[in-house]
Amino acid sequence: MKIIGLSGSLSAPSRTRGLVEAVIGEITRQTGFGGGVIDIAELAPDLGRSLGSFVLPPAIEAAHAQLRGADLIVIGVPVYKASYPGAFKHFVDLIDPKALEGKAAILVATGGSEQHALILEHQLRALASYLGLYSAPKTVFARDTDFADYRLANPAIAERVAFVAGQAAWLLRAPAARTLAAAA
Ligand SMILES: Cc1cc2nc3c(=O)[nH]c(=O)nc-3n(C[C@H](O)[C@H](O)[C@H](O)COP(=O)(O)O)c2cc1C
Repeated sequence: MKIIGLSGSLSAPSRTRGLVEAVIGEITRQTGFGGGVIDIAELAPDLGRSLGSFVLPPAIEAAHAQLRGADLIVIGVPVYKASYPGAFKHFVDLIDPKALEGKAAILVATGGSEQHALILEHQLRALASYLGLYSAPKTVFARDTDFADYRLANPAIAERVAFVAGQAAWLLRAPAARTLAAAA
């Protein structure tokens, strides 16, 4: 089973990437399966000059291929102006809409305050559903104050990460059901 993270932040270093890595680390601890992270901050220069999906820069093609090859995608976004960042959405807009159907997903987000935590439900889950992803019922939202040196440092959020990783483990055990549903 392959896991890949997708960090939608334009910052480096990034709390969002730190949270995505914490989730992948916990999934690895629980299941033995691991994987790397696609970082939108690294792809941003290429994204700016990609206006259509016919010919994409190699780095973006490679990132799309990594997503296509994954069984589970941990998607993390920072809240920018009450939504996910435009560069993250542009990256997703360049993906073949059917390419990720039937894969499992974990959704996480970071923000300056909890005021916009529901973007996980009304924006990121809607996007995941459009892509045909089976997103775990529980999500993780972390505030800036939950991090130290861009690493998750709040034990309560770490507990939530462990719970959500358990849901990821469950989703990874049901690939046949997902494939069947995606084909329907
Ligand atoms: C352009 C911009 C807009 C932001 N807008 C919001 C917002 O609307 N709501 C919020 O809670 N935090 C907002 N923030 C704060 C970030 O979501 C928060 O600092 C997040 O942890 C950043 O993650 P990062 O370290 O991965 O960049 C904004 C930050 C930036 C740079």
